[in-house]
Amino acid sequence: KRALKTGYIGKNYIFFDQIDSTNMYAKSNDLPDGTVVLAENQTKGKGRKGRRWISSKGKGLYFSIVIKRNYPLNDLMKLSLLFPYAVKEAIKDYLENQIKIKWPNDLYINNRKFAGFLIETEIEGNEINRIIAGIGININNEPEEFGDIKDTATSLKIEEGKTFCRKELFCRVLETIEKSLDKFSSLDLTDEIEKDLLWKGENIRILDEGIEGRLIGLDRSGGLKVLTEKGVLTVYSGDISVRKI
Ligand code: BTN
Repeated sequence: KRALKTGYIGKNYIFFDQIDSTNMYAKSNDLPDGTVVLAENQTKGKGRKGRRWISSKGKGLYFSIVIKRNYPLNDLMKLSLLFPYAVKEAIKDYLENQIKIKWPNDLYINNRKFAGFLIETEIEGNEINRIIAGIGININNEPEEFGDIKDTATSLKIEEGKTFCRKELFCRVLETIEKSLDKFSSLDLTDEIEKDLLWKGENIRILDEGIEGRLIGLDRSGGLKVLTEKGVLTVYSGDISVRKI
């Protein structure tokens, strides 16, 4: 049996067979630092920009981590990149396919998304006081579960052609997130993420902003650098969508 080897993440653990959304639960309750809220099934799984997250019972991992610590507001971009980075590091050795990071925080295999991150923060003045890191990873999901988004959504099982042990992956993910958070200040996420950045060197469009150009990489604080006709622009908002053109 696999035991969780962490110091604080997941020591307080709340399990729901079914809930609306683990992020909503974590936000509306005062839970201690390191609390993990996991649900087998979410009836209102939330994605970024008001989208929903398909959360089929027992097929994926749907959970939220509460980090009740103080970080300078300047670290926000880097913090929200830490979670996809850590999940990629945690599971890459189990896979044949290469994982790519779509900026700011989606994980892709073969040009389809299998994991999403909804990072919600509480900010006071220039400080982040609490982070609710909502993580959805499609693991043993079948193509039919994704309905009309099956051309863009995938699971580890679909891409790798085998079933995974969710518990093993879950423990690995929590352990890797804790390790990455512990070395957050010395972690060079820019370099790490650039190595596996989706569409690097290709032409992209940033929706809403009307920016088009070649994706050249990340700057020190985690912003996306795009070479446009007007020169290099850096985009910081974590709430924008990037498309390949
Ligand atoms: C996205 O890609 O738009 C973000 C998806 C985040 C989904 C996870 S599943 C667990 C947690 N609870 C939620 O309601 N959403 C996040």
